[in-house]
Amino acid sequence: MPDLSHLTAVRESYDTVAAAYVGRVPPPTGLDPVSRRMLDAFAELAAGAARLGPVADVGCGPGKVTAYLAERGVADVFGVDLSPAMVRQARRAYPELPFVVGSMTALPVADRALGGVLAYYSTHHTPPEALPVVFGEFRRALAPGGHLMLAGHVGDGEVVRPTEAYGGLPVSYASYLLPPGRIGDLLERAGFVVDARLTQEAGEGSGEGSRRRYGTFLARTPG
Ligand SMILES: C[S@@+](CC[C@H](N)C(=O)[O-])C[C@H]1O[C@@H](n2cnc3c(N)ncnc32)[C@H](O)[C@@H]1O
Repeated sequence: MPDLSHLTAVRESYDTVAAAYVGRVPPPTGLDPVSRRMLDAFAELAAGAARLGPVADVGCGPGKVTAYLAERGVADVFGVDLSPAMVRQARRAYPELPFVVGSMTALPVADRALGGVLAYYSTHHTPPEALPVVFGEFRRALAPGGHLMLAGHVGDGEVVRPTEAYGGLPVSYASYLLPPGRIGDLLERAGFVVDARLTQEAGEGSGEGSRRRYGTFLARTPG
């Protein structure tokens, strides 16, 4: 079993920045048009697969993207996040939606229970050697024919260890900026069919990914 000790730093860091994060990170309506339309595509696919089960927004943070999916027709959507403070922010902002504390390394759902999984800028704090655990969890939790969208920072394999974020608040997580090809390979090795891969350059958009190169994957489980 890979070392999952990074979870403590991730949880503590996001507990520290949760309130500041809400004010600083815009909702998906503020994303660049290409990123927004990728989310819209996922919402359409997930809404079309609603019979398979609910959609989990994994690493949902304060729930802005969860709420965006709900507004775009994903009727049965919920958020999961490692940080209790993030989950409190989400519940306060969107009391009509369910949010739970949990980890993408052990999702709190039964096998094949979900119609969709969204991981939006939430997997880059996972060390590469632990990503098979996370992608294996996504695969386990999705019903056959279920949809996955993963979006986030990419790079050339560098590891970034900021000491502060979101207005000078202390953080202790690492960000692993993997090449898009490696992420795609890991998804396929976990049993996903990757239907779409998009890489966007830093500075191209106005959204979360605009400081660094960012990638988006649309994938599904066979069946
Ligand atoms: C950059 S924020 C993105 C939040 C949200 N998806 C958004 O786009 O606004 C990363 C989030 O992923 C969560 N996260 C990181 N690792 C996680 C894990 N193993 N399980 C659940 N959540 C995790 C963090 O707690 C944090 O809230």
